[in-house]
Amino acid sequence: MNTSINRRSWLKQSALAAGGIITSMSVASDIMAKPAFGMTPVYNNSLVENYHVIFQERDAIKARLLANENPWGPSKKAIAAIAESASKGNRYVYSSSRVMVDMLAQKEGVSADQVLLSAGSTDILEKTAFALCMKGGNVVSADPSYLSLVKTAQAIGATWKNIPLKADYSHDLDAMERSIDADTKLIYICNPNNPTGTLTSIDAIKAFTKKVNSKVPIFIDEAYLELLDNPESQTAVGLIREGYDLIVCRTFSKIHGMAGLRIGYMVAKPERVKMIQKLVRTEMGISVTSLEGAIASLKDVEFQEFSRKSTKEGREYVTEELKKLGMSPIPSYTNFVLFPIQMPVKELLAKMMEKGVGIRGYEINGKPFARVSIGTMDEMKLFVKSMSAIVS
Ligand SMILES: Cc1ncc(COP(=O)(O)O)c(C=O)c1O
Repeated sequence: MNTSINRRSWLKQSALAAGGIITSMSVASDIMAKPAFGMTPVYNNSLVENYHVIFQERDAIKARLLANENPWGPSKKAIAAIAESASKGNRYVYSSSRVMVDMLAQKEGVSADQVLLSAGSTDILEKTAFALCMKGGNVVSADPSYLSLVKTAQAIGATWKNIPLKADYSHDLDAMERSIDADTKLIYICNPNNPTGTLTSIDAIKAFTKKVNSKVPIFIDEAYLELLDNPESQTAVGLIREGYDLIVCRTFSKIHGMAGLRIGYMVAKPERVKMIQKLVRTEMGISVTSLEGAIASLKDVEFQEFSRKSTKEGREYVTEELKKLGMSPIPSYTNFVLFPIQMPVKELLAKMMEKGVGIRGYEINGKPFARVSIGTMDEMKLFVKSMSAIVS
């Protein structure tokens, strides 16, 4: 057996299964052959093609603005906790995870049996799909949206009812409601939505929940919610406290800047948590170092505020600069901005990459769009300068 080929095909499978986001440049260069700066479609569905640059040389990228990462993290306190906890690596994470669950339960105003930890929110997204769609059925979500959960559901035999966003890129909750049928296992709402950056107001989510939740559970992916000025006023966790059958997931990858450390969690009714725990042990995927880092980061409110403020500054800057270049960026509530472009997606991504700037591209309804993540101010300036040179 040729182990190197097997390893390579396994890596390729894993990268694709992880939503196609190539997280390791060395893996990317290992599995993806020439040409340099080629593009590969990730998701193919009725409305969207999603492109990202395959970059082969670490040094080629000066501004990594393609995966909605936080350039400032992890917080110094998290890094210190990670270093210190390495010596606990001989033990399973039981005691650290207990501490973390209690902290999160207190923060969210729920009981500890309503919180489930996982290695990033991807794990929660995929395992919820397993738990709810094992026997088929369908999942309703907006399109375009973030598709980890949907893709796993489809892979195990469920179908996807993709409901186009409205012309203003908001969720068409009425159409989503109309699409529910006896086979609907779950409604997925990404709020704020990736890749559009748009926010569905909590009032709209409350009204929608009250109409449909007796028929079907609702999953709210709040990966970017904590970047809002007032996250507490927009989270759907309050509906869970009121007894509704919602699953809300959060991640440490965004505001905490811990994407590579893989921590996330969900809040739900105790029955939902049990349902997933019966099937899989999500906690077993988390390292003690990541957990201790996340505990320290949760306490580091100053760092979270810094992330929020710096993200907002970068977002406002890039939005205004894109407008000056004659573009129409979609108002964003996240750490990325999506905007329509006037050239083929692949062409823009390749030209940007030649200047060392990595961004994402999409074809939505056949029309080209680019998505830029918020990086440091220096990175944003390089992005603007490069865009300006290409489109002016
Ligand atoms: C909306 C949304 N949900 C979930 C994730 C997955 O995040 P993680 O697995 O790093 O927690 C992402 C990643 O970009 C995302 O955009």
